[in-house]
Amino acid sequence: MIVLGIETSCDETSAAVMSDSGLLSNEISSQLVHVKYGGVVPELASRAHIELIVPVVKAALAGARIDFSQLDAVAVTYGPGLVGSILVGLNFAKAMALSLNIHFIGINHIEGHIFANFVHGSGPPSPFITLIVSGGHTQLVLVQEPGQYQILGSTKDDAAGEAFDKVSKMLELGYPGGPAIDKAANEGDSTYIEFPRTRLKDESFDFSFSGLKTAVLYHIKSLAPEQLQAHRADIAACFQDAATDALIQQTLRALAHHKIDTIAVVGGVARNSLLRKKLARTSDENSLNLFIPEPILCTDNAAMIARAGYFHVLKNEFSPLTLSPMPSLKL
Ligand code: KG4
Ligand code: ZN
Repeated sequence: MIVLGIETSCDETSAAVMSDSGLLSNEISSQLVHVKYGGVVPELASRAHIELIVPVVKAALAGARIDFSQLDAVAVTYGPGLVGSILVGLNFAKAMALSLNIHFIGINHIEGHIFANFVHGSGPPSPFITLIVSGGHTQLVLVQEPGQYQILGSTKDDAAGEAFDKVSKMLELGYPGGPAIDKAANEGDSTYIEFPRTRLKDESFDFSFSGLKTAVLYHIKSLAPEQLQAHRADIAACFQDAATDALIQQTLRALAHHKIDTIAVVGGVARNSLLRKKLARTSDENSLNLFIPEPILCTDNAAMIARAGYFHVLKNEFSPLTLSPMPSLKL
């Protein structure tokens, strides 16, 4: 069986081919048009998807050395995300399914991220807890088995990636903020100042990043321009240290509470070098099984969508061609 995956929910136009023998290709075109605006401009994202969708799909098929006629199914993100962006991939996939007479499967983007850990190899053994940390979502999910999800906790305010992006803006480090903070923090001193590790008072497994973000903002405002210049990397390092501690602290609590020893981490923030380092160390110290995809499969990509599609095809779960985009879709 051969499944084409398509992902256009935000600012990456991506197509990938998954077959019984594994991933055959994964084309990702990151839209650079947003850089000068310091964030994703929805209208520009949709227009860029329209320009990129045909070449990206063609490149994915060429990379997999197959042609359209060999496809059995097409899987595509139908939410959550930017409605105009989702529409481009969704309509393209519907047209392909209709004209080629192949299966059509709409994929929840968040479930897609979970499947990033299944793209290569057999993936984490069930049950496991997955930490989803992206620009739009920060959630702890108990996966009883793929397809069966129980949300244990979510962010009460900003998503982790959003906090990275906003702090990067405050520090004038550029966009996208996560990689910029990651890079600057490498040169910084993480003992320069201790920012709060917000832990909500209740017993929930929820997250909150607004207190940390505000603490960074107040600290920046308290500095003279030359002090800020001198300590930019230090502030990045201290913010990154606090944000990653907060993520790991809640994850460990959830694992202990549910007596689970397998942790899978996905989403753009899972690319963060300090988070990866801390997770590896914590997993060693606590004898946990850690699954974290290679960096390219952490940020938005169609390989994870194709893999989720492959899973649903095997279960005979398909979508109607009347499927609408759902910008606020939940897991
Ligand atoms: O999963 P993703 O590509 O898109 C969403 O579904 O949101 O995640 C994008 C987020 C952005 O906020 C970006 O700043 C963050 O992932 N990110 C990082 C790193 N690379 C990307 N955050 C921290 N460190 C990184 N190295
Ligand atoms: Zn994503």
